[in-house]
Amino acid sequence: MQIQTLGPAIGALVSDINLGLALKPEDQAQLHQALIEHHVLFFEGQDITAHQQRDLAAAFGELHIHPVYPQHPEVAEIILLDTSMDNPPDNDNWHTDVTFIETPPLGAILSAQHLPSSGGDTLWASGIAAYEALSAPMRAMLDPLSAEHDFLQSFPAWRFARTPEERVRWEAARDKHPPVIHPVVRTHPVSRRRGLFVNEGFTTRIIELQTKESDAVLAFLREHCAKPEFTVRWRWKRHDLAFWDNRLTQHYATADYLPQRRIMHRATILGDKPF
Ligand code: OGA
Ligand code: MN
Repeated sequence: MQIQTLGPAIGALVSDINLGLALKPEDQAQLHQALIEHHVLFFEGQDITAHQQRDLAAAFGELHIHPVYPQHPEVAEIILLDTSMDNPPDNDNWHTDVTFIETPPLGAILSAQHLPSSGGDTLWASGIAAYEALSAPMRAMLDPLSAEHDFLQSFPAWRFARTPEERVRWEAARDKHPPVIHPVVRTHPVSRRRGLFVNEGFTTRIIELQTKESDAVLAFLREHCAKPEFTVRWRWKRHDLAFWDNRLTQHYATADYLPQRRIMHRATILGDKPF
Protein backbone atom coordinates (compact mmCIF):
# COMPACT_ATOMS: atom_id res chain seq x y z
CA MET A 1 0.00 0.00 0.00
CA GLN A 2 1.12 3.58 -0.73
CA ILE A 3 0.62 6.41 1.75
CA GLN A 4 0.89 9.97 0.46
CA THR A 5 0.88 12.85 2.95
CA LEU A 6 -1.60 15.58 2.03
CA GLY A 7 -0.42 18.24 4.47
CA PRO A 8 1.83 18.75 7.50
CA ALA A 9 -0.98 18.82 10.07
CA ILE A 10 -3.49 16.29 8.82
CA GLY A 11 -4.50 13.98 6.00
CA ALA A 12 -3.05 11.21 3.83
CA LEU A 13 -4.16 9.43 0.67
CA VAL A 14 -3.84 5.65 0.77
CA SER A 15 -3.72 3.69 -2.48
CA ASP A 16 -3.05 0.12 -3.63
CA ILE A 17 -5.35 -1.49 -1.11
CA ASN A 18 -8.77 -3.17 -1.53
CA LEU A 19 -10.95 -2.47 1.49
CA GLY A 20 -13.64 -4.88 0.29
CA LEU A 21 -11.43 -7.81 1.32
CA ALA A 22 -10.69 -8.80 4.91
CA LEU A 23 -7.60 -6.86 5.99
CA LYS A 24 -4.37 -8.79 6.39
CA PRO A 25 -2.99 -8.24 9.92
CA GLU A 26 0.05 -6.37 8.58
CA ASP A 27 -2.16 -4.11 6.43
CA GLN A 28 -4.42 -3.41 9.38
CA ALA A 29 -1.43 -2.52 11.55
CA GLN A 30 -0.07 -0.21 8.85
CA LEU A 31 -3.45 1.51 8.43
CA HIS A 32 -3.78 1.96 12.18
CA GLN A 33 -0.29 3.44 12.32
CA ALA A 34 -1.11 5.82 9.43
CA LEU A 35 -4.36 6.83 11.10
CA ILE A 36 -2.53 7.78 14.30
CA GLU A 37 0.05 9.76 12.32
CA HIS A 38 -2.22 11.52 9.78
CA HIS A 39 -5.59 11.62 11.66
CA VAL A 40 -7.64 11.12 8.50
CA LEU A 41 -6.99 8.69 5.64
CA PHE A 42 -8.62 8.88 2.21
CA PHE A 43 -9.13 5.98 -0.20
CA GLU A 44 -10.39 6.09 -3.78
CA GLY A 45 -12.43 3.61 -5.83
CA GLN A 46 -13.66 1.53 -2.87
CA ASP A 47 -16.99 0.18 -4.13
CA ILE A 48 -17.94 -1.69 -0.97
CA THR A 49 -21.33 -2.83 0.37
CA ALA A 50 -22.75 -1.75 3.72
CA HIS A 51 -21.88 -5.23 5.07
CA GLN A 52 -18.26 -4.85 3.91
CA GLN A 53 -18.05 -1.38 5.42
CA ARG A 54 -19.36 -2.68 8.73
CA ASP A 55 -16.85 -5.55 8.71
CA LEU A 56 -13.98 -3.19 7.85
CA ALA A 57 -14.88 -0.87 10.75
CA ALA A 58 -15.47 -3.78 13.14
CA ALA A 59 -11.87 -4.90 12.60
CA PHE A 60 -10.87 -1.77 14.57
CA GLY A 61 -13.29 -2.07 17.49
CA GLU A 62 -16.85 -2.35 18.71
CA LEU A 63 -19.34 -0.38 16.61
CA HIS A 64 -21.72 2.31 17.80
CA ILE A 65 -25.38 2.32 16.80
CA HIS A 66 -26.56 5.89 16.50
CA PRO A 67 -29.59 6.76 18.68
CA VAL A 68 -31.32 9.07 16.16
CA TYR A 69 -29.73 9.01 12.71
CA PRO A 70 -31.44 6.69 10.18
CA GLN A 71 -29.94 3.24 9.77
CA HIS A 72 -29.15 1.28 6.65
CA PRO A 73 -32.11 -1.13 6.13
CA GLU A 74 -29.86 -4.22 6.26
CA VAL A 75 -27.04 -3.09 8.53
CA ALA A 76 -27.99 -1.24 11.73
CA GLU A 77 -24.37 -0.21 12.35
CA ILE A 78 -24.33 1.84 9.13
CA ILE A 79 -25.81 5.34 9.31
CA LEU A 80 -27.53 6.62 6.17
CA LEU A 81 -26.76 10.30 5.62
CA ASP A 82 -29.18 11.00 2.80
CA THR A 83 -29.54 14.75 2.38
CA SER A 84 -31.75 16.64 -0.01
CA MET A 85 -34.42 19.35 0.07
CA ASP A 86 -36.60 17.05 2.21
CA ASN A 87 -33.78 16.31 4.66
CA PRO A 88 -31.34 19.23 4.57
CA PRO A 89 -27.77 18.68 5.72
CA ASP A 90 -27.03 19.27 9.41
CA ASN A 91 -23.30 18.55 9.59
CA ASP A 92 -22.22 22.00 8.38
CA ASN A 93 -20.62 22.86 11.70
CA TRP A 94 -17.29 21.85 13.19
CA HIS A 95 -17.85 18.79 15.35
CA THR A 96 -16.41 15.60 16.69
CA ASP A 97 -18.79 12.65 16.39
CA VAL A 98 -20.76 11.42 19.39
CA THR A 99 -18.83 13.21 22.16
CA PHE A 100 -22.10 13.14 24.16
CA ILE A 101 -21.25 9.67 25.53
CA GLU A 102 -18.67 8.59 28.16
CA THR A 103 -16.60 6.69 25.57
CA PRO A 104 -16.74 8.74 22.34
CA PRO A 105 -15.81 7.01 19.08
CA LEU A 106 -12.16 6.36 18.32
CA GLY A 107 -12.92 6.66 14.64
CA ALA A 108 -15.40 6.53 11.83
CA ILE A 109 -15.48 5.40 8.22
CA LEU A 110 -17.49 7.37 5.67
CA SER A 111 -18.27 6.12 2.17
CA ALA A 112 -19.55 8.31 -0.69
CA GLN A 113 -22.50 6.61 -2.36
CA HIS A 114 -24.18 9.38 -4.32
CA LEU A 115 -22.83 12.87 -4.85
CA PRO A 116 -24.00 16.21 -6.18
CA SER A 117 -22.38 17.35 -9.44
CA SER A 118 -20.18 19.63 -7.32
CA GLY A 119 -20.00 20.68 -3.68
CA GLY A 120 -20.51 18.58 -0.57
CA ASP A 121 -16.80 18.58 0.32
CA THR A 122 -15.82 17.59 3.87
CA LEU A 123 -13.08 19.22 5.95
CA TRP A 124 -11.19 17.74 8.90
CA ALA A 125 -9.11 19.63 11.47
CA SER A 126 -6.40 18.40 13.81
CA GLY A 127 -6.98 19.16 17.49
CA ILE A 128 -3.34 18.32 18.10
CA ALA A 129 -2.07 20.94 15.63
CA ALA A 130 -4.53 23.46 17.08
CA TYR A 131 -3.34 22.79 20.65
CA GLU A 132 0.34 22.86 19.75
CA ALA A 133 -0.08 26.26 18.05
CA LEU A 134 -1.30 27.89 21.29
CA SER A 135 1.05 29.84 23.55
CA ALA A 136 2.40 28.08 26.65
CA PRO A 137 0.32 30.23 29.07
CA MET A 138 -2.86 29.52 27.08
CA ARG A 139 -2.13 25.78 27.09
CA ALA A 140 -1.43 25.92 30.83
CA MET A 141 -4.79 27.61 31.44
CA LEU A 142 -6.70 25.05 29.38
CA ASP A 143 -4.88 21.92 30.58
CA PRO A 144 -6.77 21.34 33.86
CA LEU A 145 -10.25 22.32 32.58
CA SER A 146 -13.22 20.09 31.80
CA ALA A 147 -16.29 20.67 29.67
CA GLU A 148 -19.86 19.50 29.38
CA HIS A 149 -21.00 17.78 26.15
CA ASP A 150 -24.71 17.52 25.48
CA PHE A 151 -26.61 15.38 22.94
CA LEU A 152 -29.36 18.05 22.77
CA GLN A 153 -26.99 20.68 21.38
CA SER A 154 -26.89 18.92 17.99
CA PHE A 155 -30.07 16.83 18.19
CA PRO A 156 -32.90 19.21 19.15
CA ALA A 157 -36.50 17.98 19.15
CA TRP A 158 -37.60 20.49 16.50
CA ARG A 159 -35.30 18.78 14.02
CA PHE A 160 -35.12 15.15 15.14
CA ALA A 161 -38.60 14.55 16.64
CA ARG A 162 -40.86 15.79 13.88
CA THR A 163 -43.03 12.68 13.43
CA PRO A 164 -44.56 10.51 16.20
CA GLU A 165 -42.11 7.67 15.33
CA GLU A 166 -39.14 10.03 15.45
CA ARG A 167 -40.43 11.44 18.76
CA VAL A 168 -40.40 7.99 20.40
CA ARG A 169 -36.83 7.30 19.29
CA TRP A 170 -35.66 10.82 20.17
CA GLU A 171 -37.16 10.73 23.70
CA ALA A 172 -35.47 7.40 24.39
CA ALA A 173 -32.17 8.89 23.12
CA ARG A 174 -32.56 12.02 25.26
CA ASP A 175 -33.30 9.97 28.38
CA LYS A 176 -30.34 7.69 27.74
CA HIS A 177 -27.90 10.60 27.15
CA PRO A 178 -27.68 13.11 29.97
CA PRO A 179 -24.77 15.56 29.55
CA VAL A 180 -21.28 14.14 30.14
CA ILE A 181 -18.00 15.75 31.22
CA HIS A 182 -14.74 15.40 29.24
CA PRO A 183 -11.34 17.07 29.59
CA VAL A 184 -10.87 20.22 27.46
CA VAL A 185 -7.41 18.94 26.51
CA ARG A 186 -7.13 15.18 26.11
CA THR A 187 -4.21 12.84 25.64
CA HIS A 188 -4.34 10.53 22.64
CA PRO A 189 -4.32 7.02 24.13
CA VAL A 190 -1.95 5.66 21.46
CA SER A 191 0.36 8.51 20.41
CA ARG A 192 0.20 10.22 23.86
CA ARG A 193 0.08 13.57 22.04
CA ARG A 194 -2.23 16.16 23.59
CA GLY A 195 -4.90 18.11 21.75
CA LEU A 196 -8.05 20.18 22.07
CA PHE A 197 -11.24 18.22 22.71
CA VAL A 198 -14.08 20.75 22.62
CA ASN A 199 -16.40 21.10 19.65
CA GLU A 200 -19.23 23.32 18.53
CA GLY A 201 -21.48 20.32 17.94
CA PHE A 202 -21.78 19.15 21.53
CA THR A 203 -19.71 21.22 23.99
CA THR A 204 -21.97 23.51 26.03
CA ARG A 205 -19.72 24.99 28.73
CA ILE A 206 -16.42 24.80 30.54
CA ILE A 207 -17.25 23.62 34.02
CA GLU A 208 -14.65 25.52 36.05
CA LEU A 209 -15.26 28.92 34.40
CA GLN A 210 -17.96 31.53 34.86
CA THR A 211 -20.59 31.57 32.09
CA LYS A 212 -19.18 34.57 30.22
CA GLU A 213 -15.62 33.30 30.57
CA SER A 214 -16.69 29.91 29.25
CA ASP A 215 -18.57 31.47 26.31
CA ALA A 216 -15.55 33.60 25.40
CA VAL A 217 -13.03 30.75 25.66
CA LEU A 218 -15.22 28.35 23.67
CA ALA A 219 -15.79 31.00 20.99
CA PHE A 220 -12.05 31.59 20.74
CA LEU A 221 -11.30 27.85 20.54
CA ARG A 222 -13.99 27.32 17.93
CA GLU A 223 -12.42 29.91 15.68
CA HIS A 224 -8.86 28.81 16.43
CA CYS A 225 -9.53 25.11 15.69
CA ALA A 226 -10.85 25.94 12.21
CA LYS A 227 -7.67 27.75 11.11
CA PRO A 228 -6.91 26.48 7.58
CA GLU A 229 -3.39 25.45 8.65
CA PHE A 230 -4.89 22.71 10.84
CA THR A 231 -7.27 21.36 8.20
CA VAL A 232 -7.56 19.23 5.09
CA ARG A 233 -10.45 19.44 2.61
CA TRP A 234 -11.61 16.44 0.62
CA ARG A 235 -13.52 16.76 -2.65
CA TRP A 236 -15.45 13.51 -2.90
CA LYS A 237 -15.73 11.21 -5.89
CA ARG A 238 -18.19 8.30 -5.85
CA HIS A 239 -16.83 5.35 -3.84
CA ASP A 240 -14.20 7.42 -2.07
CA LEU A 241 -13.87 6.51 1.57
CA ALA A 242 -12.54 8.47 4.55
CA PHE A 243 -11.35 6.90 7.79
CA TRP A 244 -10.73 9.39 10.57
CA ASP A 245 -9.38 9.26 14.08
CA ASN A 246 -12.27 10.90 15.95
CA ARG A 247 -10.31 11.33 19.20
CA LEU A 248 -8.47 14.53 18.35
CA THR A 249 -10.09 15.80 15.18
CA GLN A 250 -13.17 17.72 14.17
CA HIS A 251 -14.89 17.73 10.80
CA TYR A 252 -17.27 19.94 8.82
CA ALA A 253 -19.50 18.85 5.93
CA THR A 254 -20.11 21.74 3.55
CA ALA A 255 -23.81 22.24 2.79
CA ASP A 256 -23.57 23.97 -0.57
CA TYR A 257 -25.27 21.51 -2.94
CA LEU A 258 -29.04 21.79 -2.42
CA PRO A 259 -31.36 21.14 -4.23
CA GLN A 260 -29.17 18.20 -5.26
CA ARG A 261 -29.01 15.00 -3.24
CA ARG A 262 -26.00 13.47 -1.45
CA ILE A 263 -25.84 10.02 0.16
CA MET A 264 -23.08 8.85 2.50
CA HIS A 265 -22.72 5.70 4.63
CA ARG A 266 -21.01 5.95 8.01
CA ALA A 267 -19.71 3.29 10.38
CA THR A 268 -18.65 4.46 13.84
CA ILE A 269 -16.09 2.68 16.05
CA LEU A 270 -16.39 3.14 19.82
CA GLY A 271 -13.39 4.40 21.76
CA ASP A 272 -12.41 4.77 25.38
CA LYS A 273 -12.90 7.34 28.11
CA PRO A 274 -10.95 10.53 27.37
CA PHE A 275 -8.20 11.49 29.86
C1 OGA B 1 -20.42 12.32 9.76
C2 OGA B 1 -20.43 13.62 9.13
C3 OGA B 1 -19.72 14.32 7.01
C4 OGA B 1 -20.16 14.27 5.60
O1 OGA B 1 -20.66 11.33 9.09
O2 OGA B 1 -20.15 12.27 10.96
O3 OGA B 1 -20.29 14.61 9.78
O4 OGA B 1 -19.37 14.69 4.77
N1 OGA B 1 -20.54 13.58 7.82
O5 OGA B 1 -21.27 13.81 5.33
MN1 MN C 1 -19.82 13.99 11.86
